[in-house]
Amino acid sequence: MKVIKTINEMRKLTIEMSGTVGFIPTMGYLHHGHLSLVRLAKKKNDHVVVSIFVNPKQFQPNEDFASYPRDTEKDLQLLQDANIDAVFLPNVSEMYPENFATYITIESLSKKLEGKSRPGHFQGVATIVAKLFNIIQPQQAYFGQKDAQQVVIMKKMVSDLQFPVEIVVGPTIREQDGLAMSSRNVYLSEKERKEATILFQSLKLAEELIRKGERNPVSVKKEMNDFIKKSVGVVDYISLADPDTLDEVENIKKNTLVSLAVFFGKTRLIDNIVVHSV
Ligand code: PAF
Repeated sequence: MKVIKTINEMRKLTIEMSGTVGFIPTMGYLHHGHLSLVRLAKKKNDHVVVSIFVNPKQFQPNEDFASYPRDTEKDLQLLQDANIDAVFLPNVSEMYPENFATYITIESLSKKLEGKSRPGHFQGVATIVAKLFNIIQPQQAYFGQKDAQQVVIMKKMVSDLQFPVEIVVGPTIREQDGLAMSSRNVYLSEKERKEATILFQSLKLAEELIRKGERNPVSVKKEMNDFIKKSVGVVDYISLADPDTLDEVENIKKNTLVSLAVFFGKTRLIDNIVVHSV
């Protein structure tokens, strides 16, 4: 496995790799969710490249860029064991040299849900992913369903800017008690970690209500909110939206993206499921 730190070196390898390249962009501190995407990519491609880059442009000034968990040595070991071709591990000045001034904005979609709570976040994500696509030139790029809005936005960017890249979505990988795997779970205290299972439980509650015939999103949100209030979690938002447009639904008719963000102390966790109403 090659460990590549510069854009020039990465471009050289891009030219050398014949056949298809599957790419998994990450911010490191890898968990089973990332590794499941690596496995998917390996099945479908001749080569697999993973990037590890904690992207400062997708964090707001009040967010956790400085404290975001990092363990490059462990990440490299995991990727070596997964037998991938290369890890792209640039530093901040390599990706954003002085006077960097070009950004990608996916209008409308970026302002909803996560974008409302984290203005500028998706501009940062889109800009870095577009740069990585240009450098690595993959045929397929892999993202986890846990970041449902990120997936929708990546698909829109690829379509609008004609990137010849297929966005492949891997399922959310969960701990045994249902908590979605996330690098940020490491921030949770023991008590918060136990109570964080409320996220998935509240999603299952929404699913049950919809399956039983509830069609009013306001009622579903209220039930979820009341349920979460029993824990130390503080709701940022609960949303029932169209999975493609991310517009809030007024009536639950077909597939609905039920998503939420909840604070446990300073840690903000997100999760979602798509409920298929019959
Ligand atoms: O999902 C993430 O870890 C990040 O948003 C990504 C896609 C690696 C871009 O920095």
